[in-house]
Amino acid sequence: MANTPVNKPLLDVLHGRKQAVPPLWMMRQAGRYLPEYRAVRSEAGSFLDLCFSPKFAAEVTLQPIRRFGFDGAILFSDILVVPHALGRRVEFVANEGPTLDPLEDPAAIDTIARDLNHAMLAPVYETIGLVKQALPPEVTFLGFCGAPWTVATYMIAGRGTSDQAPARIFAYRHPQAFAKLIDILIEASASYLVRQLRAGVDAVQIFDTWAGILPPAQFARWSIEPTRKIIELVRREIPDAKIIGFPRGAGTQLEHYAKALPLNAVGMDWMIDKTFAREKVQSRVAVQGNLDPLSLIAGGAAMDAEIDAVLEAFSDGPFIFNLGHGITPETPIAHVERMIARVRT
Ligand code: CP3
Repeated sequence: MANTPVNKPLLDVLHGRKQAVPPLWMMRQAGRYLPEYRAVRSEAGSFLDLCFSPKFAAEVTLQPIRRFGFDGAILFSDILVVPHALGRRVEFVANEGPTLDPLEDPAAIDTIARDLNHAMLAPVYETIGLVKQALPPEVTFLGFCGAPWTVATYMIAGRGTSDQAPARIFAYRHPQAFAKLIDILIEASASYLVRQLRAGVDAVQIFDTWAGILPPAQFARWSIEPTRKIIELVRREIPDAKIIGFPRGAGTQLEHYAKALPLNAVGMDWMIDKTFAREKVQSRVAVQGNLDPLSLIAGGAAMDAEIDAVLEAFSDGPFIFNLGHGITPETPIAHVERMIARVRT
């Protein structure tokens, strides 16, 4: 099986096979830069209502595929539905981002549910079924979760901060209680990914958006190790599960991350040195990334030069073109169209 080419170019890269034209998708491709997203978003009510309405969530998952013909569709949801299904209060406040009830001391960790409430996540699995039916066969369908470290940073602080200091301080002060939280998130995330794969996604991505603020020893402990356990638990159920890891801001730690983890692709942010990434990471595993999302706002010759630099660095090996992080709401659609045309010709 492993050597049979599939008719999905992105999935083929996850089997380790380089494509003549790199498949592409964008992190946060369903989002506020699209007028059709904003229309559904206002009809759906709150952001979580949108995540948990299969009809609407499937619609916004498909919108960027219809408009741009991307090679990958990413399930519309959020990494914070996991704490929500562990019994935490999660809210998305307009223009402020997510808020949760913070976890202030070790005793608070004991109030978290041990098992993910899959009934609360049933609408997500239903969304996957709806998307699956509507998706063109050549498009790879991606599910996802947040990595335990990244999800924990929001759970501890109760919101996003510029440096996620509350979680870092908590982990220094209460390493055992913090490890307990990470263990809960490992189990929850693995069972969530297994359910997504069984519901019909072709591959999953683990977003470790805040990996890059950890010093090396803690990067190994709180980013690499929990991710390794999730991969192990998922593959215990689904041995050939295809998994992408994205440790944003990892820098030179990206080499250790790629070495330590049996991933099918490693995501690269826009800050990574491209020669380093090619030599130390792409030499062992497929890579994904890493156009600076802000160059996509600027457009013009600067954007073209950045696209060319990405293509030149990574097109000789297994490679998925993407941004180095999510697309931002102010990005002009014309620039996305121009990027796609440039990658495909
Ligand atoms: O298109 C896609 O990529 C799929 C959907 C998706 C969303 N969030 C939708 C979303 C995915 C994969 C995520 C992942 C996510 N969510 C991450 C990891 C990747 C990353 O971007 O760093 C994180 C850290 C979150 C948590 C989160 N959700 C934050 C911090 C915010 C607020 C910031 C913002 O951009 O407003 C969200 C909200 C969110 N998640 C939006 C979308 C489209 C915008 C909210 C809205 O439409 O009102």
